[in-house]
Amino acid sequence: MSNNYPLIAPSLLSADFSRLKEEVQAVETAGADLLHLDVMDGVYVPNITFGPLVISALRPHTKLPFDVHLMIVQPERYIGHFAQAGADWICIHAEATPHLHRGVSAIKELGKKAGVSLNPHTPLEVLDYILEELDFVLIMSVNPGFGGQRFISQTLRKIERLKRTLVQRSLPVLVEVDGGINEETAAQVISAGADILVAGTAVFGKKDYAQAISALRSPK
Ligand code: DX5
Ligand code: ZN
Repeated sequence: MSNNYPLIAPSLLSADFSRLKEEVQAVETAGADLLHLDVMDGVYVPNITFGPLVISALRPHTKLPFDVHLMIVQPERYIGHFAQAGADWICIHAEATPHLHRGVSAIKELGKKAGVSLNPHTPLEVLDYILEELDFVLIMSVNPGFGGQRFISQTLRKIERLKRTLVQRSLPVLVEVDGGINEETAAQVISAGADILVAGTAVFGKKDYAQAISALRSPK
């Protein structure tokens, strides 16, 4: 993983699911920093993807850190399973559990990087008393559930506010942005303060993954 921000995390959701191993290796070779894995349960979000079994099957085939985005209700039930499957970063949604602190503590006790994700309408205030516990915050810039959606522009002032708070409180928490990232919106979120960009369509939807990743890293 390079330490040149922004880090780029291709989202496997837009890959060719009949060739997952090859797709993961292709983005690793193309210069990805993390692999973003979207886990959906059909309850928290209106879509179903994959669980720990697929993640553990991919784990031996890449050195990329696995950034696991849990879009499932009561995620604290499954944190151990995903850690065991090979997740390095685990993020749970604030809206999906009344026990956010318990979930975050469980992730950290397993030695993994802990993040909280917020839906587009969820105010930053829910993080007030937990921010210092986090390694990263994932700001959703689309409604979670599907790839290929349009970036919600109100997210920009949310990223700016979060970044300002982190600077004011001197907290080393990374800001990850997920949804509708393309070359144009990448430039906007980077200037708002994003440290990590998740991109599904803007990487796997392109022919040349290396070119797609470098275009997002330094958009014109
Ligand atoms: C949406 C997922 C995203 C998705 C992004 O619920 O969390 O990670 O893959 O896809 P794009 O980059 O196509 O918006
Ligand atoms: Zn995601």
